[in-house]
Amino acid sequence: MTDISNMAVREIVQQSELKHIAFIMDGNGRWAKNKGLPREFGHRAGAETFKKVLRYCRKIGISVVTVYAFSTENIKRPKREVEAIFSLLLDYIEEARDEDGVEFCFLGDPAALGEDIGKKARALEEDTRGGAHRVNIALNYGGRAEIVHAVNELIKQGKTEISEDDISANIYTKGCPDPDLVVRTGKETRISNFLLWQSAYSEFYFSDAMWPDFSADDVDAAIRDFAGRSRRWGGLDKNETRK
Ligand code: IPE
Ligand code: IPE
Ligand code: MG
Repeated sequence: MTDISNMAVREIVQQSELKHIAFIMDGNGRWAKNKGLPREFGHRAGAETFKKVLRYCRKIGISVVTVYAFSTENIKRPKREVEAIFSLLLDYIEEARDEDGVEFCFLGDPAALGEDIGKKARALEEDTRGGAHRVNIALNYGGRAEIVHAVNELIKQGKTEISEDDISANIYTKGCPDPDLVVRTGKETRISNFLLWQSAYSEFYFSDAMWPDFSADDVDAAIRDFAGRSRRWGGLDKNETRK
């Protein structure tokens, strides 16, 4: 295996064919609590981290970044917290227009969160179509809901028997490569209903950092760790393949 310790992260990204990183941005609430602040402050700080991480990923040549912004289950939280998150999201949807060369896509059902957020999310998608880098924002997203959505689409198309390709063509990420690497911050080591279909062969990296503290150096650490993994997809390592 190549020694990557002295290689620049940009080169590692290329060499390891790392195209898509997905982030479960967890730990905003605990970050705020640890500082004696209301949880909303954690979400505000988390939004800044999100912008920095996106820019950094673009700089080092990651083609697709997916972020988990709000799950189908997060609506259970107190109204005040949910409203604070929606307000940050609406602000970001406006700001996102200034990101050069980025195509934004929303995974999930943002319209169910309110007419305003739904319309603005779809308008951002339309207005940024064709950007060289893709950012997927999972908003009112659940992995199970996504699979149900795909199956319902297929029923509408008249299918009575379906294949894996049919599901892949009807999930929210259609046309996007599956995530090579899924990073979860905030010390929890679970998937919380994120990209259940797409992460079948993703590599997972768990960081103890709360999301607002997650930095470019942490992205580098995750990528270096990823580059040292052996992805076999159920087969054998390249050097072990027998004739
Ligand atoms: C992630 O941080 C953001 C959302 C789920 C919207 P949390 O708010 O879950 O933070 P913790 O896990 O409670 O610290
Ligand atoms: C997952 O975090 C959802 C997002 C990061 C948006 P949660 O904080 O909702 O997950 P659980 O409840 O700890 O599993
Ligand atoms: Mg959490």
